[in-house]
Amino acid sequence: MCGIVGYVGDRQAAEFLLEGLSKLEYRGYDSAGIAVYNGENIRVEKCVGRLAALREKIKDDVPQGTIGIGHTHPHTDCSGDFVVVHNGIIENYLALKEELIEKGHAFKSETDTEVVAHLLEEVYNGDFEESVREVLRRIEGSYSLVFMCRQHPDRLICTKQDNPLVIGLGDGENFIASDIPAIINRTRRTYILNDGEMAVVKKDAIEITNRKGELVTKKVFEVNWNAEAAEKGGFEHFMLKEIHEQPKAVRDTMSQRIAKDGKRIVMNELKWNADFLNNFNKVYIVACGTAYHAGLVGKFYIEKLARIPVEVDVASEFRYRDPIVDENTLLIVVSQSGETSDTLAALKESKRRGAQTLALTNVVGSSIAREADQVLYTWAGPEIAVASTKAYTTQLILFFMLALYMAEIKGTLPEEKVAEFVGLLQQVPAQISETLSDVEPIKTFAKQYGFNEDVFYIGRSLDYDVALEGALKLKEISYIHAEAYAAGELKHGTLALIVEGVPVIALATQKSVYEKTLSNIKEVKARDAVVIGIAAAGDEELEKYVDHVIRVPETDELLIPILTVVPLQLLAYYAAITRGCDVDKPRNLAKSVTVE
Ligand code: F6R
Repeated sequence: MCGIVGYVGDRQAAEFLLEGLSKLEYRGYDSAGIAVYNGENIRVEKCVGRLAALREKIKDDVPQGTIGIGHTHPHTDCSGDFVVVHNGIIENYLALKEELIEKGHAFKSETDTEVVAHLLEEVYNGDFEESVREVLRRIEGSYSLVFMCRQHPDRLICTKQDNPLVIGLGDGENFIASDIPAIINRTRRTYILNDGEMAVVKKDAIEITNRKGELVTKKVFEVNWNAEAAEKGGFEHFMLKEIHEQPKAVRDTMSQRIAKDGKRIVMNELKWNADFLNNFNKVYIVACGTAYHAGLVGKFYIEKLARIPVEVDVASEFRYRDPIVDENTLLIVVSQSGETSDTLAALKESKRRGAQTLALTNVVGSSIAREADQVLYTWAGPEIAVASTKAYTTQLILFFMLALYMAEIKGTLPEEKVAEFVGLLQQVPAQISETLSDVEPIKTFAKQYGFNEDVFYIGRSLDYDVALEGALKLKEISYIHAEAYAAGELKHGTLALIVEGVPVIALATQKSVYEKTLSNIKEVKARDAVVIGIAAAGDEELEKYVDHVIRVPETDELLIPILTVVPLQLLAYYAAITRGCDVDKPRNLAKSVTVE
């Protein structure tokens, strides 16, 4: 998610716009732009690259004016009278774009945001507020939006739906931003907009109305965070913030990819057909670390739903072992950053051998996104903490949707089953929120067991894949030695390590192997391990065999990994806190591994 900033007052707008964007730049942008009304026109200056490139571009000719907005990409209509900045996704933009092209609008980009600018131009009737309302009636999706209009140079209009937007209250000036860090140097008095609210912001007045146009009286929210806390949205660490962002990250990743009737998956980015898919005799999923763990779940989904054989490999192994890859291979690389060097090299090597390539990544314009033939983005927003959390859950969501999409094309699942899965998918964000609503027991376990030197994670089937991710999280941020085992493998060696008091996290959510997992749990209990079971709500059985149970909401066993990983992330987080570790920057690790 990019940063949005806006200013109206008596000072030079560009000054605040550049400062505000710089405060949000830690999220990593590929471009920057500002739009300022100069008394006659709205002047837009944009530049590819970091904010420094924009500063350099305009240093001798800074746009002059006391009202303006900024973002990575401010968009204008045909006339240049309307400028819009937008975070989020306009789901029906393609249909709107077609309609607007028919009416003679000329588009300069492929973005959904530009559609909003042209739509405003189209419906504009001289009344700025009313015209914006008409735009809002027509667009669907999630957004925070700020509008600027040459004919009304005393005001900015902003609104939001499922994306944050805050108004900073100054003295004879007001500020708008997508996030508090952008305004904290200027004011601590804010209005936090709620979904559906629209604000008309002038230098000395702010009028907020709800969807029906009724006036809303808002309380001033005093920000008492310091600048660092503000970047973390009030959370103690980026990791905790990102864990809590998962409901939204997952919702954003799904949006635009579910058909209007709520029964099918649409992947406008891919447009695959049966011929395309039948060409492949194998799918490879290649990635590193957490992304590799997501790939393991991805394999399960694709094989189970679309019935195509899948191999998963860590990129650093794959690239050096002369893999059997040719034009009948579909290579899927997974990478949050899109910059991991081994993953990028594996992608290049596979392309050289003729494979079709698809990237699942979170960073628009990253090296992997540019190199792959096709890209599916996880819309998780910037992930700052070294330990990956929301990237993993969004990768799982994307893999599940991709597998359903492939299954629909190949006809391996009946329509009703696809519809049922799509229905369950839509419940996931709320179910993650529910999982996040009660962290106290997890904190207690972390305090109780956070000083153990070894922890084991066990599970079967998809539970094993999640166990691997849970163990990695614990290792990397708390430095506790953690190992994940396929529960059935225990007695082939590892059981020797299970002695009195050793914590074992046992995942038991997969119905097909439930009894088998229970018998493995009994084996470790018999050696006096302390067992924390992870179960689905409604499971009354597990608690009889374990010391503690953490429950997640009930869903299909294919989707449950997206829920069970959440307590494991929290357990790792609170264990690291218990041990006084630097959660966001664990020792020896970098966020993005761009060297071999
Ligand atoms: C673990 C973690 C790493 C990354 C790995 C791949 O929490 O963050 O294991 O998952 O370095 O990074 P990306 O996904 O950027 O390719």
